[in-house]
Amino acid sequence: MRRKVTVVGAGNVGANCALRVAEKDLADVVLVDVVEGVPQGKALDLLQSGPVQGYDVLITGANDYEPTAGSDIVVITAGFPRKPGMSRDDLLLANYDIVKTATAQAAKYSPNAILIVVTNPLDAMCWAAMQVSKFPRNRVVGMAGVLDTARFRTFIARELDVSVENVTAMVLGGHGDTMVPLVRLTSVSGIPLTELLDAATIERLVERTRNGGAEIVKYLKTGSAYYAPSAAAVEMVESILKDKKKVLPCAAYLDGEYGVRGVFAGVPVKLGAGGVEKIYELKLTAEEQEQFRKSVGAVEELVGVLKQKAGA
Ligand code: LAC
Repeated sequence: MRRKVTVVGAGNVGANCALRVAEKDLADVVLVDVVEGVPQGKALDLLQSGPVQGYDVLITGANDYEPTAGSDIVVITAGFPRKPGMSRDDLLLANYDIVKTATAQAAKYSPNAILIVVTNPLDAMCWAAMQVSKFPRNRVVGMAGVLDTARFRTFIARELDVSVENVTAMVLGGHGDTMVPLVRLTSVSGIPLTELLDAATIERLVERTRNGGAEIVKYLKTGSAYYAPSAAAVEMVESILKDKKKVLPCAAYLDGEYGVRGVFAGVPVKLGAGGVEKIYELKLTAEEQEQFRKSVGAVEELVGVLKQKAGA
């Protein structure tokens, strides 16, 4: 049976998600956007890459959600990106309205789908998507940790001049300036990072990771990153569609895990056909716990604003 992935938002992140899903031959793709003609045009262009790239998936564009019916996964990328100097949190209210509408429509046509939220501020938008869709928590998950971890892994690999594939890392907490790269659990082919780099160098890479998104926004000026974010989202899509059960850092709804209840934050999860099949609760050191709490506190603040707005 053919699988179906809807990508909401035909901007740079959305279009590259569609491209990566197609190039991995994972599923048919429906690209949805409010701007007339853009999803249709990009979808047609992507479809016409098929003969050269060797994929047979169907890619269609739409301005409404009817063609998305029965999707296995809905990736929500719609929203405003940051401009230089803005934090992800500055996008809260504008993107809340967009994510609310997108989620309501997508959930109506695909009541059994798994939602992967990409729109910023990520953890708060996940909360909005869960609230609007009323989906169980295993079917709402946010893309952030895979991206943040990929950045950390890249910087470590470049510093050590080793393959990125050998670097394993874990970035927890909210997808914001307070994210928590866990140095203790970072290794290169099993060798602890702390045995390979001195503390000052590690701290520099951790800081660069925390500012990884902003570094790119500063270069681009008119938007934010999209190649690595789309790669990260599609790793999650693949793990779900193929039931690979990859253990990845993702934004998951915490219901008591890590002493947190009622908000999303980045934690290691098992991603399979059932969506978030397991949340791994790590034993954090006192210092890590403090950083995690601080990061979750920032998410709670944003969700508090949304709750007020939603009258919830
Ligand atoms: C980033 C944005 C997409 O981290 O959140 O690049």
